[in-house]
Amino acid sequence: MIETRFTREFNVRHPIVQGGMQWVGRAELVAPVADAGALGFLTALTQPTPEALVKEIARCRELTDQEFGVNLTILPAISPPPYAEYRAAIIESGIRTVETAGFSPAEHMPAFKAAGIKVIHKCTSVRHAVKAESLGVDAVSIDGFECAGHPGEDDVPGLVLIAAAARRVSVPIVASGGIADARGLIAALALGADAVNMGTRFLCTVEAPVHENVKRKIVEANERDTTLIFRTLHNTARVATNTVSREVVEILRAGGEFDDVRDLVAGVRGREVYETGDMERGLWTVGQSQALIDDIPTVAELVARIVAEAEDLITTRLSPLVSAEGR
Ligand SMILES: Cc1cc2nc3c(=O)[nH]c(=O)nc-3n(C[C@H](O)[C@H](O)[C@H](O)COP(=O)(O)O)c2cc1C
Repeated sequence: MIETRFTREFNVRHPIVQGGMQWVGRAELVAPVADAGALGFLTALTQPTPEALVKEIARCRELTDQEFGVNLTILPAISPPPYAEYRAAIIESGIRTVETAGFSPAEHMPAFKAAGIKVIHKCTSVRHAVKAESLGVDAVSIDGFECAGHPGEDDVPGLVLIAAAARRVSVPIVASGGIADARGLIAALALGADAVNMGTRFLCTVEAPVHENVKRKIVEANERDTTLIFRTLHNTARVATNTVSREVVEILRAGGEFDDVRDLVAGVRGREVYETGDMERGLWTVGQSQALIDDIPTVAELVARIVAEAEDLITTRLSPLVSAEGR
């Protein structure tokens, strides 16, 4: 067992988090993550309405008696989803931990705090982590540039970002982005983090509710097979390299606007990739950590393996490096 401030304060067995994943963070995945002793998050906006989220939380509770949380991703939108209603659905369902991401969680903090909910805010820079701490979050989850999804605009990889954040933030830090195994966990702890968050690695498990082709593609892919889109729009996202992501980059690089790629980037096309396994249908999210993934384990196998290998790394690889001489 590896115990940290995070495992104690968030009451989980292992310092491992499965972060929010649009179209993927459903009960089928989150329940086994909870059973394995890690902290899993249902993704609120994967559910079409706040009422559907209430039902999904109930469905997840039928599948596990362990605690799990809900991710609320706050992104720029022309017609934003009813965030306050999703927030109310989370609170009324008795959820104890929320992962916020995207924009500042400021407007949601008073209601979550009043309900006794612990908030982990996912961010991509030291300044946003410091700001989140000042708003009263209970932990920050910090995504390095390697991550799947939105890495921000600063392009600072985890090796620097996590250590830099640890110098400025005193709440527990969850290191995120580029982590897929025990080596990543140990490295993150050494950098000053108290836990790790993984997306891509959990996407490539037996229980992840996506087509088998997605998982096979992750196993085949290497660290160069992701593409950064929306750079010119200052809303960068890391997705899989395919015909659609290449076309989006070309159009925007040639001076195109969001309207020129609107149809290509439609969320529904991404959802169809996960549902049908047509890997060229739309954009799908994946991180550079796919280079470290070469199997499709069950969630229980994955979590147990990471914990066992992390313990082994400490005792058989790191401890012997400390020489008794010169002490
Ligand atoms: C398929 C997929 C969908 C994601 N969707 C979301 C999302 O809706 N909200 C969010 O906060 N993060 C989202 N993420 C990011 C993850 O929560 C996590 O921060 C990221 O995957 C960490 O990097 P890694 O993939 O290298 O582990 C997504 C990641 C993946 C792989």
